[in-house]
Amino acid sequence: MLVGLEGPDDAAVWRIDDERALVVTTDFFTPVVDTPYEYGAIAAANSLSDVYAMGGQPFLALNIAALPPDLPAELGSEILRGGAEKAREAGVVIAGGHTVQDKEPKYGLVVIGFVHPGKMLTKSGAHPDDILVLTKPLGFGTTTTAIKQEKASEADIREVIDWMMRLNKSAGELALEFGLQGGTDITGFSLLGHGYELGAASGVGLRFDYAKIPFISGARKHAEAWTFPGGASDNRLHFGPQVRFAPGIDEASQMLLFDPQTSGGLLLCVPPDKIDGFLSRAREINQPAWMVGEVTKAQGIMVKE
Ligand code: CO
Ligand code: CO
Repeated sequence: MLVGLEGPDDAAVWRIDDERALVVTTDFFTPVVDTPYEYGAIAAANSLSDVYAMGGQPFLALNIAALPPDLPAELGSEILRGGAEKAREAGVVIAGGHTVQDKEPKYGLVVIGFVHPGKMLTKSGAHPDDILVLTKPLGFGTTTTAIKQEKASEADIREVIDWMMRLNKSAGELALEFGLQGGTDITGFSLLGHGYELGAASGVGLRFDYAKIPFISGARKHAEAWTFPGGASDNRLHFGPQVRFAPGIDEASQMLLFDPQTSGGLLLCVPPDKIDGFLSRAREINQPAWMVGEVTKAQGIMVKE
């Protein structure tokens, strides 16, 4: 076992030989959007993400579904179709799975992938002076909460769905191509929570530049209306004591950095001598990448204006 329960990493890793290790992970959740096909695709992209976050390549998956007995059959099959098509896009075969009955729908995948044991991306691989690169914008939690409260515009809904459905495949492949060692994906614990885990596991700190952090269009508006999921307060309570904010960063802005993300991007640690090549390669393959801060020797998280 190379990665297991002792650390906060994204997936378990089991070494087979010098060249190959298995990456195994699972994730599932209740609907974040009203359209069943897109919910299925988002849940699948989110489940696959933990393999990419380890520098791995997924190849096999199983469905995990809980569906209400009174849910029309076509809605259930739309959820599974969304998952299956997203898996196919990733080059992953869904080989089966299991469905139970439950009051509220739940869906996700068990995913198995391969990683080279010497080329893993882990939370303990960050080094001082590495540049922090984020591959999707933030604001998914506040926007999906606005959808649930019927406060989101059509454009906001479309934008957040497109980002959440997006695979972290090419971001993970870029990390591999540039031999990156430190990274994770940004999901339920928010940018600051997952960032804190990364820093703590590596024995370093992170400094974010607030002005450089990308957000989807509706995020600010929904944050100011305080449309946050419960997890945002939990994250602030839990990780807040580890974070120092510059005085000019208001409460809504702080809260956006504690906002739980569903199917968020990767947070990658890119050594300074590789950053130019990394960014130009990212542009070449249409992989969004934002420089949002850097890794520091001093531990803890700092957010500059
Ligand atoms: Co993860
Ligand atoms: Co996960």
